[in-house]
Amino acid sequence: MLVNSVFNETDFLRLTSLFKDPKSFEFQDGFSRWVAADNRIPELQHYAYLVTPLARSLFDSPTLLPTYTLFSHYEGPDARLHKHKDDNACTYTLDMCVYQKTPWDLYVEDVPYTLQPNQALAYYGNDQEHWREDFPNPETNHVAMIFFHFAEPDHWFFTKGFGYLNVIRGHITDEQWETRK
Ligand SMILES: [Fe+2]
Repeated sequence: MLVNSVFNETDFLRLTSLFKDPKSFEFQDGFSRWVAADNRIPELQHYAYLVTPLARSLFDSPTLLPTYTLFSHYEGPDARLHKHKDDNACTYTLDMCVYQKTPWDLYVEDVPYTLQPNQALAYYGNDQEHWREDFPNPETNHVAMIFFHFAEPDHWFFTKGFGYLNVIRGHITDEQWETRK
């Protein structure tokens, strides 16, 4: 579902002002993107809470809570987002466009969506396949998004903690995780 005007104009301008130097963030080679999560930019947590009432209404859940939020700036000929479902705490996802030169459609289950700044797509990140096709105008383009993620209070993210992702991904066993706590 496409959502218009995620934030009011003032909040959206304040939010975009956090990303004046996106290339100072961590570079992820595989996606050709620079990312910063809410541990690097704590203000993102404030915006995740601001958008929580909207998420609760869109996903028809009065109990969902923000998990983690990620800013991502894609640029360059290798920018890509392969077809995937998320394994992190992404039961409910709001993918919001922050800024862009040329829109880069986001596909969710074979349907392309074109987003403009301050528009978002609401979908189920863990259950619905999502991806992007070829990056348009790769020599000059850039596209920046924020991924707001939400889950229910009984999700492992809240009951066990963020580090439990290592168990979900099979890097460690449940037993190893228990002894590390
Ligand atoms: Fe994803």
